[in-house]
Amino acid sequence: MGRSASEIIERDSRLFMRCYPARTKLVIARGRGAEVWDVEGKRYLDLFSGIAVNNVGHCHPRVVEAIRRQSEELIHTSMLYYNETVLKLAEKLAGIVPSGLSRFFFANSGAEAVEGAVKLAKKYAAKRGMGGAQVIALDCSFHGRTSLALTLTGQKKYKQGLGNFANSPGVVHAPSPYCYRCPLGLRYPECGIACADALERVFEFRTSGEVAAVIVEPVQGEGGIIVPPDEYLPRVQSICREHGAAFIVDEVQTGLGRTGKIFAAEHWGLEPDIMTMAKALGGGLPIGAIAAREEVANAFEAGDHFSTFGGNPVSCAAAIAAIDVLIDEKLHERAEKLGNLLLKMFRNAQDEAELIGDVRGKGLMIGIELVKDREGKQPASDEASKTSEEALKKGIIIGVGGVKKNVIRIQPPLVITEEQAQKAAEEIIAIIKQIKK
Ligand SMILES: Cc1ncc(COP(=O)(O)O)c(C=O)c1O
Repeated sequence: MGRSASEIIERDSRLFMRCYPARTKLVIARGRGAEVWDVEGKRYLDLFSGIAVNNVGHCHPRVVEAIRRQSEELIHTSMLYYNETVLKLAEKLAGIVPSGLSRFFFANSGAEAVEGAVKLAKKYAAKRGMGGAQVIALDCSFHGRTSLALTLTGQKKYKQGLGNFANSPGVVHAPSPYCYRCPLGLRYPECGIACADALERVFEFRTSGEVAAVIVEPVQGEGGIIVPPDEYLPRVQSICREHGAAFIVDEVQTGLGRTGKIFAAEHWGLEPDIMTMAKALGGGLPIGAIAAREEVANAFEAGDHFSTFGGNPVSCAAAIAAIDVLIDEKLHERAEKLGNLLLKMFRNAQDEAELIGDVRGKGLMIGIELVKDREGKQPASDEASKTSEEALKKGIIIGVGGVKKNVIRIQPPLVITEEQAQKAAEEIIAIIKQIKK
C-alpha cells in the first residue's frame, strides 16, 4: 500500500516549524523534465520549478549522472584544500558571466551569496577609504531571509516582528522601477526614467555620500516579476560608477537562462562589479556563487570569507552538468521563444479576462498581475490564490507572488515543450476568466 498524501501532511504538521509560507497540499514524490508526480501517482505540470530552480528540468539525466559519479569519488573536502571539480565550475562560469567578472566564491544559497557580495563591496569601499560605507537597495526587492539580506529586501511582509534583525544599519532604499504601479505617479516613457534620478537623490540626501554598493535584481522576482524600463539599469550602473559605489547585480533568480539570456544582465549589456547566483546554478542541488571583478575581488584578503560547505564537489559537479545542458540544449533561447509565446497569449487574454491588470516578463519569467478593477488597480490577492488552487486541481503548479500576493508567477523548467506550455496557458486563462472577483 502506498503512503497517502493526507497521512504525510499530518505527520509533517507535528514536526516542522510553522515558518513556511502557506504550503500547497501536494506531496511530491518524483519529477522528470517539466513534470512531477505526487505520492499517490497523480501527474502535474510544474510551472514554478520549485521556486525557479529546475531550469534544466527535474532530474536531468546528465545532472543525475554527474551527481552519481562525483559522489562515488568525493562528497566533501572544503576550500581549505584544492579540488579539480570546484575549479572546473569556476572555469565554466568564467566563460559565461558578463565581461569583467573573473573571480569567484562559492556559497550554499542565494542569501549567503548576497551577504558575501555586500561584505565584499564593504571591504572594497573600506580599502578606498570609505569606512562604514552604506548600501542602497530597491523597494519591492527580495534578497533572502538572513539578517542583512532581509534588510536589503524592500518589502515589509518579510520583516514584520523582527526589529533590527531585518534592519541592519547603513542600508537605505530607492524606489522600484515598477511601471505598472509607478511609485512616482508617472508614465513611461514620458517619465524620463525619473526612478533612476530618484536613486541618485538617495545618494545625495539619504546617505553620507559614501556608498559601498547599490544592489539590484535585473527583474524583481519575489516582488512580482517587475521588469524595469530598458534605460533604467544602464543608468543605475553609470550612477554607481560616478559615485564610486560597486554595482551588484543579484542574478539569483534571473540567472542561468531564465530570462532568455544566460544572465539577465546581457539584456542591457551590464557590466556589474559583483554578481550573485544560486537557485538554478546547481541543477537542483544547493549552491550559491559570487562573481567579481579582479580589483573588487582583491579587497578580500586571506581569512576574510569562508563557508564550510561552499564549493561542495557534488553541488559543483551538478552545476557543471547543468551549465553544459543549458548551453548544449540552448535553453536560454528556448526560454525566450516560449516566453514570447506565453506573453502574447496572456496579453491577448486581457480583453476578456477582466482580472488581468498587467502581463510582464522576460523569457520564462512571467508575471500576471491580477486586480479587482483596472482603474483603481486594487490587488486581487484572494483571486490569485484561488487561481493557483484551481490550477492545481487541473494538474498545473503555478506560483503566486508580488508585494501584495496578487501576481501569478509562471517560471517553468526551460525544457518545457511548446505544447505543454501552450496547453497550460490556455487552462490558466480559462481559470482566471471564471474566477469571481
Ligand atoms: C533575487 C534573489 N536573491 C536572493 C534570494 C535568496 O535565495 P535563497 O532562498 O537561496 O537564500 C532569492 C530567493 O528567492 C532571490 O530571488
